[in-house]
Amino acid sequence: MTFTAPIQLPGLALDTQWYKRAVFYEVMVRSFYDSNADGSGDFAGLISKLDYLQWLGIDALWIPPFYNSPLRDGGYDVADFSSVLPEFGTLDEFKELVTKAHERNMRIVIDYPLNHTSDQHEWFQQSRQDPEGPYGDFYVWSDTDEKYPNIRIIFVDTEDSNWAFDPVRRQYYFHRFFSHQPDLNFENPAVREATLNVVRHWMDLGVDGIRLDAIPYLFESEEGNGEGEPKTHEFLKEIRAMVDRDYPGRVLIAEANQWPSEVVEFFGTEDEPECHMAFDFPVMPRIFYALRSQNASELVRVLSETHEVPSAAAWGVFLRNHDELTLEMVSEEYRQAMYGWYAYDPRMRSNVGIRRRLAPLLDNSRAELELAHALLFSLEGSPFLYYGDEIGMGDNIWLPDRDASRTPMQWTPDRNAGFSSADPGKLYLPVVQSLAYNYTSINVEAQLAQSRSLLNWVRNVIHVRKGHPTFGLGTLRVLETNHESVLAFVREYPGSSTQFGDSAETVLCVFSFAHSPVSARIDLTGFEGATAFDLFGGAEFPAVGADGTLSLTLGTQGFYWLHLGDAPRA
Ligand code: BGC
Repeated sequence: MTFTAPIQLPGLALDTQWYKRAVFYEVMVRSFYDSNADGSGDFAGLISKLDYLQWLGIDALWIPPFYNSPLRDGGYDVADFSSVLPEFGTLDEFKELVTKAHERNMRIVIDYPLNHTSDQHEWFQQSRQDPEGPYGDFYVWSDTDEKYPNIRIIFVDTEDSNWAFDPVRRQYYFHRFFSHQPDLNFENPAVREATLNVVRHWMDLGVDGIRLDAIPYLFESEEGNGEGEPKTHEFLKEIRAMVDRDYPGRVLIAEANQWPSEVVEFFGTEDEPECHMAFDFPVMPRIFYALRSQNASELVRVLSETHEVPSAAAWGVFLRNHDELTLEMVSEEYRQAMYGWYAYDPRMRSNVGIRRRLAPLLDNSRAELELAHALLFSLEGSPFLYYGDEIGMGDNIWLPDRDASRTPMQWTPDRNAGFSSADPGKLYLPVVQSLAYNYTSINVEAQLAQSRSLLNWVRNVIHVRKGHPTFGLGTLRVLETNHESVLAFVREYPGSSTQFGDSAETVLCVFSFAHSPVSARIDLTGFEGATAFDLFGGAEFPAVGADGTLSLTLGTQGFYWLHLGDAPRA
């Protein structure tokens, strides 16, 4: 498979707000390509697939943890923050990955689970053995398991307490996630210093950004619930100040599974910023809710909420990632409805969520896959794709926990889906062989050979998005419609605010969640007489009426991205 490089944007490297226009792609080193036939993906394999990612239109890779680890939580259980897992390659190969990505104008964002370590980490081993030693106070120790009663348990499927007894130190230690992942004690200045050193270590190696894993949970207090405590925000400001001072242009991305009003706190303020980006957890499940309920009102509601954020702040929007599709940010009523629609087999559930991939969730419906991606690529914020979703990969719910959707990337119809030439039994996880998603039919090679494949469609939509800076830089305003299944918003960008000389633009985005065709009237007051042109084919649509409304007919689960031109603005 060979891929020709798209035209490069000159001077991209100088753009300090690159992340606002970037299309991100989450790729697990272990899952992408195995270069040495040991059954696990590696850095050399990922490097060899950069041409594919560039062809697809990816601007930045988000790489989940690749550090030394016993891999009991997919690598989020880190045993050493400064080295790489030998089965993935060497630190030099990681540096080569950064260089090779940069040569293609692609950025590298790594993932840093700073809240906790593996119990195999040297710090924990020393802490449990020597309470008076230099690491004695690196973790949150207690004589009882009763402290912090307000702090909820996150991994409800596996844990019944946030405390675990350590038979060596004969004390309890605190853990927000698995009991083999003790929480670091951020009250200890030495822990904070060690954290800043890890950030420096990787930024010195040239990474363009860091996803700050599980960021709300750093500090805990008797009064608080351990999520976004004031001291956590203070420390984040310190990390950001260091990054701005020593590594300008690099970004910090908050993983905070919280309500918008709480997540926005992780952006900080204009004067005292924290993270550049934060994932938008509330919008994601509402997309899935709208697809089945045929009702857009919950999406309309969350998208209409406005929040004051610093000018450099940007959302990260996503449909799926390496975790379960979390349902923490919806009401109990909606959660039950979504379990019924999307996780009818209890095996599909995990903690407070659903451990399935995008295509199986959407029952392999091409219309739904296109609608969901069209939303992903036009909402306010930068889209994050999950590896394999661009070809509609399936999952394997017979595998434990979130491994269900972490199986090898499917490249070809050959042995091991072209992922590895190892003995199939040696693979870190088996390739998907289910009836509907068998790798012999769902793979990159087959989809490249088919001009109307999902892969080619996704690539096209990415490139259309890239041609319109409005999607990355513009504002979003929800519009009123007369149909409950229809979501409409305008993205507006005044233009010329970057060195690229982009011009002003208004894009009208309309989506129908109805399971049959509909006609809807959209309130476009202020755009009376404006002409509408389709961003994909360029076709002219009826102009906005003198009464400020536009009537559109949408096919089943259809959508439009329309350029609005020559509007005599009120
Ligand atoms: C990651 C999970 C991980 C957890 C504990 C997260 O939020 O996304 O995959 O299990 O942090 O590190």
